[in-house]
Order: sequence, then structure tokens, then C-alpha cells
Amino acid sequence: MVKKKPTLTRRLLMSEEELREAAAERRWADVKCRTINFGIIAQLLLENRKQTDPFVGAEIGVFRGGMSREILRTLPNCVLYLVDRWGPPKEGDSYLTTVDLQAFRTFANHQEDERLCRKLLEFAGPRAVYLKMELGQAALQVEDGSLDFIYLDADHSKRGTKRAWKRWEPKVKPGGIVAGHDWGTYGVTEAMEECVDKDTAICVDRATWAYRKAEQR
Ligand SMILES: C[S@@+](CC[C@H](N)C(=O)[O-])C[C@H]1O[C@@H](n2cnc3c(N)ncnc32)[C@H](O)[C@@H]1O
Repeated sequence: MVKKKPTLTRRLLMSEEELREAAAERRWADVKCRTINFGIIAQLLLENRKQTDPFVGAEIGVFRGGMSREILRTLPNCVLYLVDRWGPPKEGDSYLTTVDLQAFRTFANHQEDERLCRKLLEFAGPRAVYLKMELGQAALQVEDGSLDFIYLDADHSKRGTKRAWKRWEPKVKPGGIVAGHDWGTYGVTEAMEECVDKDTAICVDRATWAYRKAEQR
């Protein structure tokens, strides 16, 4: 059987230059891409690295592992921290203030999500590192400045997004990629506009957003 080569699979519908111009001017509506997926993040990551290089990243909010699979397949030597509590949020959790249906899943639903995720990611073996806990607690397990990228996709309320960013952004190396999902929905855009320095161009590919962390602060 012919083994399928990992590819970036998704393609931007605009050139890199057009994308950067639009992102620099924050013309989000002009950004066109076929994907809501890993393409734009891979594109930034691979500007100065090879696809087969070793990477270490973290996905915050994993659910059934759809995006994790995309990451682990695209980057064959990537170790990925998978951060999810796989359990319902406690009363008063800001996640419940969003209309994200996943915030309202039962304990049994979460158990099933975790089972499906582990099955889906079996192919990655020890490259998939499970941190089944609250995202703040998980952040304590990872050294600051040690990650090539993070992908934030947990609590999408403004408060929750800011909290996740504050806990996880320091984990990214200078020059690494900070990314996430749900741009334009819930409180994500507002949160990121407040967290991210105004001189930093955030690239947006439909709901996926990503930027390169400054080399020096
Ligand atoms: C939108 S889903 C993630 C989707 C996934 N990234 C994908 O692409 O398929 C959000 C996940 O975040 C998890 N989550 C939300 N808030 C969390 C928190 N404070 N700590 C840990 N996990 C959390 C939920 O359990 C849920 O599985």
C-alpha cells in the first residue's frame, strides 16, 4: 500500500503577501482561505523550519482530537500536549456564558469524547501527551518559553480566552506561534485585540487566527 505523505492539505486563496498586508491592516473580512484548520498555523511555523523538524506544541481544548490529528499528521516529528479536562465546567465557569454547545456536554458525553480522541490519535503514540485537567493547572506542568506553538480552543468567552492566553502565551518561545480558533465568534476577537500588542499582525483564516510572538520583549 502506498503510504500517504503528510501535507499541509489546505491552501490559502490569497498570496502570502496579500495575507500579510490584510492582516497588518486588520482587514479581516478580506482574508480568504479554504480552511478553518491548521494551514495558516503551519504556514507561519514553516516559514523558517522544515516540516520534518522536531516541534513541541500544545492544544488547549481538544474535544475529540480532530485538530490534534491534523497537527500530528502534518508535523510528523511534533510532540503535542493535549490539554482538556474532558468533564463539564463547574457552576459559574465563564465557558457557560458562551453559546458554545460543547460547554453544555454531560459527563458521559465528555467520557465518550475522550475515548474517541484517544482512539483517533493512537497513530501518534507517545507524541500525543495527555494533560487531562484544567488549563491553568496544565500550564504549571509546562516550562515557560519551551513551546514552538500553542493553539487556544477551550473557553471562548472573552474572560476565558484572556485567561487561557495569559496562562499559555508565556509557554511559547520568542519567535514561536500563538494561535487559536473562533475568531469572530463569542469573545475571542475582543479578547485578542486587548491581549496582543497593536504592532503585531494577527493572521486570520476564517475562524483560525495566528501570530508570531516577538523575538524579544
Ligand atoms: C471547542 S472544544 C475543542 C475543539 C478542538 N480543538 C477541535 O478542533 O476539535 C473545547 C474543549 O475545551 C475544553 N475546555 C473548556 N474549558 C476548559 C478549561 N478551563 N480547562 C480545560 N479544558 C477546557 C472542553 O472540555 C472542550 O472539550
